[in-house]
Amino acid sequence: YEVGAVPSSPRRIQVVAHRGASRDAPEHTLAAYRKAIEDGADALECDVRLTADGHLVCVHDRRVNRTSNGRGAVSALELADLAALDFGSWKEDPYESPDREADPAELSAVLTLERLLELVTDAGRRVDLAIETKHPTRWAGQVEERLLTLLRRFGLDRPEPAAEDDERPRVRVMSFSGRSLRRIQVAAPALPTVFLMNYLLPRYRDGRLPAGSHIAGPGIRILRSHPGYVARSHRAGHRVHVWTVDEPADVELCVRLGVDAIITNRPRQVLAQLGR
Ligand code: G3P
Ligand code: CA
Repeated sequence: YEVGAVPSSPRRIQVVAHRGASRDAPEHTLAAYRKAIEDGADALECDVRLTADGHLVCVHDRRVNRTSNGRGAVSALELADLAALDFGSWKEDPYESPDREADPAELSAVLTLERLLELVTDAGRRVDLAIETKHPTRWAGQVEERLLTLLRRFGLDRPEPAAEDDERPRVRVMSFSGRSLRRIQVAAPALPTVFLMNYLLPRYRDGRLPAGSHIAGPGIRILRSHPGYVARSHRAGHRVHVWTVDEPADVELCVRLGVDAIITNRPRQVLAQLGR
């Protein structure tokens, strides 16, 4: 995985399961990630937050209110508090695997990043991981520090040059915060970073990225209104990973524009549309 290198054609679009197969199973649960792996996703996306006692957990919102039966900010709760909550029951009609009995704990327990790293490491095939740091500025570098400590323990902070049959997961770090990505880049220069964008600010329209960022991460809305952005990014030497792409017309747009990764809540449907 050469940082900054644009892949040679023919392009194989990487399909990334956003919060796991989160259309079918409760987001960020082990069940959602197992389903994504079963579906054939090339990579998994997760958001990470720091608990009050310093654990990285996979939770999107600042508070646990939407996705659990508890209340309060993740940063104010300890891992043991989160472990006592149900992160699955809010989801209506979660899928049932035809192949195996669903483990109720996997559908409802809070997921630590450590457990997710174990899952991708033992997947039996190469499954990459795109880890997004949430609210990193508030913690003055602690999120990145803990993240890198954990990645180092798994030997995942320095992706080796890719051999096609190498099954080890490749990790990349994503953020809306350029500052967070710079911290990662300084401490772990070999780790690819993805700069997420909600809007295309004028200073990035030509495909440039802030220092410390290697890959562009535009929201799909950006590509609808700036379809030339993908080609400009490629010319500037950056891959393009697009989120969150759930509609067939958007998948088609991504294919036409030649993006490098599609981040989706519905990996199975997107893979089918890509003929895989
Ligand atoms: O993959 C990037 C995307 O997840 C960013 O938005 O709010 O879903 O974390 P959000
Ligand atoms: Ca995210």
